[in-house]
Amino acid sequence: MTALDGAEVAKHNNKKSCWIVLDSKAYDVTTFLSEHPGGAAIMLKQAGTDATTEFKKYHPLDYVNDLPEGSLKGAVDPNTLGQLRVLKEVEAAPASEANADNKIPHVSLCVSCPDFEIAAKAVLPRKSYIYASTSANAGLSLKGNLEDWGRINFRPRVMRNVGDVDTRRAIFGHSSPYPFYISPMGTLGAIHPGAEPELAKGVVRKGCHYVVSTASTKSSRDIMQAFVDEQKKIKDASPTRLFFQYYMPVDREKALELMRVVKKLGYKGLWITVDTPVLGKRTADRVLQAEEALAVGLEEEGTSEWEAGSENPIAPQMGGRPQRGQLSPHTTWADLEWIRKEWGGPIVLKGIQCADDARLALEYGCDGILLSNHGGRQLHTAPSALMTLLEIRTYCPEVLGKLEIFLDGGLRDGSDVLKALCLGATAVGVGRPFMYALAAYGAQGVERCVDVLAEELATGMRLLGVTSLNQVRPDMVNAQRLLNEMWRPDSTPTVKSRL
Ligand SMILES: Cc1cc2nc3c(=O)[nH]c(=O)nc-3n(C[C@H](O)[C@H](O)[C@H](O)COP(=O)(O)O)c2cc1C
Repeated sequence: MTALDGAEVAKHNNKKSCWIVLDSKAYDVTTFLSEHPGGAAIMLKQAGTDATTEFKKYHPLDYVNDLPEGSLKGAVDPNTLGQLRVLKEVEAAPASEANADNKIPHVSLCVSCPDFEIAAKAVLPRKSYIYASTSANAGLSLKGNLEDWGRINFRPRVMRNVGDVDTRRAIFGHSSPYPFYISPMGTLGAIHPGAEPELAKGVVRKGCHYVVSTASTKSSRDIMQAFVDEQKKIKDASPTRLFFQYYMPVDREKALELMRVVKKLGYKGLWITVDTPVLGKRTADRVLQAEEALAVGLEEEGTSEWEAGSENPIAPQMGGRPQRGQLSPHTTWADLEWIRKEWGGPIVLKGIQCADDARLALEYGCDGILLSNHGGRQLHTAPSALMTLLEIRTYCPEVLGKLEIFLDGGLRDGSDVLKALCLGATAVGVGRPFMYALAAYGAQGVERCVDVLAEELATGMRLLGVTSLNQVRPDMVNAQRLLNEMWRPDSTPTVKSRL
């Protein structure tokens, strides 16, 4: 095949004929424009250019193999690559105008979780900050997550000899110095050039568990490799583990293949995300998407949830969304049977939001449930994880001893972690604080964020009057305010309802 001329490729720069160059090869993506999970505008913007750098921020390069058959047009003559269209970089300005000089505080000035967000806002391009911070609809699910932790109080005991405290907890037998882990978050390449492997370094240095997202920028293999390499560097490294968050591919063969790959790589548990049959409305992302679409003459994009005739919802412009073919509104409880058979290890359902589904998870043989509303990014006015935990304690407390219970969403203080544990959580996930810490300070920020949470937790334990997490109990918190607001069944208790 003769090499393509860069100047010729550059002419395919519109929605009638849209080519992009990846790794020196030209691809015709015209028919794929309407199906791109990140929207057509972002691809059209790259039309006729070398999109390799931008692409790699969001996906492993081998995702090009998922493009429709016949997309590959051929290699571009290396002497003519300079004739491709070049994009003007207009989006690099940081999200916070007050910090437009990119100056961030020294990492040691980050003494609580919100400090990392301020630092991240100063360095992240607006688009990346919107990706990290956006939430569903009017933002009420996120607001509830953040506020509910402050709506329960401790009932501390005094004079208890709290000189030494032990904050260790295990997840499925894998011990960690902390009862919190890092939540799965996709597309960290949009947040830091080192992406997930950079986060994995911080994780190993601190011994904190990390659940890796299916929608990661780097491949599950590269992330595991970075993790193992870092472990080798550290003498007596804490036996931290990587777990895998699973957006189940719609295609059964691909779904099985992904499980086999990550199992072989050594990921220890499968966190199946079940709160995402379709993508929620990420409002700030939608505005950005509309701006981008208008800039390339696509007025209508980003306003409707579904493309006509498409299986895929129009996803927000930024990454973190599952790839094409990864979201399926058709997944049901019955799928757990073949998943369990193939995986053969611990399975957690990520995104349980009521007592009825907690009970079903037990009935269907799951090992754990993660009470979560996806960081307030999916359903509008979804319950906070804390509210769901209280509902479970009231209507199906039997699951507490039988499943490992995890919570995430809005935890911004080690004391929040402690409250969750008092109420029966095995461990909790923390998302955005680690993303912001990574954005501003790389692995060092991740380490610092672990320290901040761990110190707050240890102090909280001492002030509560406990020295080990085995001593925490529900009567150490007063959750009455939330209990008063809790859903009550009417004459027909829906907790008995089935699928
Ligand atoms: C930027 C971003 C990307 C995310 N990506 C994923 C993902 O790929 N898979 C997933 O199951 N959850 C994803 N989540 C949800 C998190 O795993 C977690 O449920 C949530 O962030 C917890 O809330 P917090 O950020 O308030 O701590 C993402 C959350 C954020 C903020």
